Amino acid sequence: MDAMFHLRGGALHVEDVPLQAIAERFGTPTYVYSRAALTGAYRAFESAFRSAFESALVPARAAGAARARPPLVCYAVKANPNLAILNLFARLGSGFDIVSAGELARVVAAGGAPSRVVFSGVGKSAAELKVALEAGILCFNIESIPELHRLEQVAGACGRVAPVSIRVNPDVNPNTHPYITTGLNENKFGVNHHDALALYRAARGCRHLRITGIDCHIGSQITEIAPYADALERILELVDQLAAEGIVLEHVDLGGGLGIRYSEECPPSVDEYAATITRIFGARPQRLVFEPGRLMVGNAGLLLTRVEYLKPGPVKNFAIVDAAMNDLMRPALYEAYHEVLPVVPRAGDACWYDVVGPVCESGDWLARNRALVLEEGDLLAIASAGAYGMSMSSNYNTRPRAAEVMVDGANLHEVRARERIEQLFEGESLLP
Ligand code: LLP
Repeated sequence: MDAMFHLRGGALHVEDVPLQAIAERFGTPTYVYSRAALTGAYRAFESAFRSAFESALVPARAAGAARARPPLVCYAVKANPNLAILNLFARLGSGFDIVSAGELARVVAAGGAPSRVVFSGVGKSAAELKVALEAGILCFNIESIPELHRLEQVAGACGRVAPVSIRVNPDVNPNTHPYITTGLNENKFGVNHHDALALYRAARGCRHLRITGIDCHIGSQITEIAPYADALERILELVDQLAAEGIVLEHVDLGGGLGIRYSEECPPSVDEYAATITRIFGARPQRLVFEPGRLMVGNAGLLLTRVEYLKPGPVKNFAIVDAAMNDLMRPALYEAYHEVLPVVPRAGDACWYDVVGPVCESGDWLARNRALVLEEGDLLAIASAGAYGMSMSSNYNTRPRAAEVMVDGANLHEVRARERIEQLFEGESLLP
């Protein structure tokens, strides 16, 4: 977790607020975010690139190369789309990577600039393309020939010219969970790098498209630098081939995917990432674009939950908590590891527990085999839950979604109210 989450006087705090106070005021389960941690993550990324870029450019400038624009960070909204978080990033100057009209609406509602939005995803509908075109987004990341044709049609019908980038699948293995690997030939994403040139040529022939960039996104929770280096080299080969054909790009978008520490992982630091990319990129004139999601929010949030029951069993002990797979589905879906921290650690002999929720599935677990000293009613923090926690939550078992709270120094802001049960079937009706 970010250093903004820390033990003080025997109790876990977020910035200056004890988590017990949040549980008392807002109940549980509740997602808790730290404004300082979010800001810190954004600034660390941006400044790593600024300094790597500045130092790499010194020799190039001396050689008379044009000064490249600073990289553009397009926060991947899917990681955590809460308006307060989007607004915070927008105020810090961030752009956004979206994958639906819904995400675009959130960006706009949060005060984000459409002119800093890139639109990714393999299945954009005509309606979504139109809305994004009319909003004036920075770029459509095109993932197939039929999508290219559809965008040409939609743009023609609106009398506009759509800025496009081709999402290239560089066929490199990011060595992460198979469900979140996206840059291999067997994945549905992007256009095979051997076919990319043909797509650019096709795009060049489209009256309502303007080629502006190239992009890739090879996967998520990547903990090695080599796959990024390989992907970038493949992308740059294409950039050069395109230039030779007179197709000059304005930006190169390397996607997101840089991993965070959940437990023992040692992902590359943002400085190492920035230095490697900048070194390979050299003094090219294009603007670099990134789409980090998890890195911006993952360790800036936790899920606060309360122990309902302790249930000893013949094989295992269960700590049954009031958060479940519907609140945080990463363990059920990917067998993901999240640290479990007692909010007020107790002295005594630890017991081995599986931390599970009330949902009626054996897959409903949040953590397995954890040594904890627990009593009924204790508060637990499920760490590193800021990314793909709330955004992947559901109402399974007709459970209202958790509240979300942002800590800012000693202040608390409820940035999403806990859902009420009545809301859950508001749109439903009985048969006549
Ligand atoms: N750009 C594109 C086109 C993406 O598909 C994604 C994530 C990102 C950027 C941001 O990737 P990040 O920096 O967050 O790794 N639910 C999974 C992660 C799914 C990621 C999907 N795409 C999880 O909980 O681990």
